[in-house]
Amino acid sequence: MDGQLGNPGPVKLELLTDADAGELLTLQQAAYITEARAHQNFDLPPLLDTLDHVRAAIADPSITVWGFRDGGRLVASVRMRVDGRVCEIGRLVVAPDRQGEGLGTALLAAAEEATPAEVTVFRLFTGERSAGPLYLYRKLGYRETHRSPEAGYQLVHLEKPRMREPG
Ligand SMILES: CC(C)(COP(=O)(O)OP(=O)(O)OC[C@H]1O[C@@H](n2cnc3c(N)ncnc32)[C@H](O)[C@@H]1OP(=O)(O)O)[C@@H](O)C(=O)NCCC(=O)NCCS
Repeated sequence: MDGQLGNPGPVKLELLTDADAGELLTLQQAAYITEARAHQNFDLPPLLDTLDHVRAAIADPSITVWGFRDGGRLVASVRMRVDGRVCEIGRLVVAPDRQGEGLGTALLAAAEEATPAEVTVFRLFTGERSAGPLYLYRKLGYRETHRSPEAGYQLVHLEKPRMREPG
C-alpha cells in the first residue's frame, strides 16, 4: 500500500492479530468519542468493548480486522465479518489526529477489495448524526436501505453491491 493513498504518508495495510488488540482498543476509544458526543450516547458498543471483546473479534474466523500502520503506529482500522454472500463492516476508525487525510476511505476500499470472491454485498450502519461517515459511505457507493430506532436517534443502514471488473 505504500505511497498509493493520495497523500497520507507511508502507510501499510496489515491484518491485525492478538498482539494488536490493546492498541486497537485505544484507537477505537479515541475515535468513537466524537460519535458518542454527537448522539449523546456514551454506551456505543465500540466504547463498551473490553480488551477481551477486541481479542475475541480478532480470533473469530468469520471476522477480518484490518489496520493501517504509519511508522509502526496503528492509525486506522476496520472489521469485516463475512456470512455467506454478505460482508458486514464495522468499527471503521481513524486516529483523531490523522482524520481528513483519506485514510478512512482508502482503508475501507482496500478491505472491500480483499474480501473473499463469494461476497456480493457489503452492509454497514451508522448514527443519523454521523455526517462524516455518512458522507464517506455515500461517496464510496453505499445507499440507505432503512433506519432503525436507537436511544433518541436513528441508525442509518446502508449497503452496496460488490462492483466487479468487466470480463
Ligand atoms: C469516519 C472516519 C473513519 C473517516 O475517516 P477519515 O480518514 O477522516 O476520512 P477521509 O479522510 O477518508 O474522508 C473522506 C471524506 O469524508 C469527509 N469527512 C470525513 N469526516 C468528516 C466529518 N466529520 N464531517 C464532514 N465530512 C467528513 C472528508 O472531508 C472527505 O471528503 P472528500 O473525499 O470529499 O475530501 C473517521 O472520521 C473516524 O474515525 N470517525 C470516528 C469513528 C466513526 O465515526 N466511525 C464510523 C462509525 S460507523
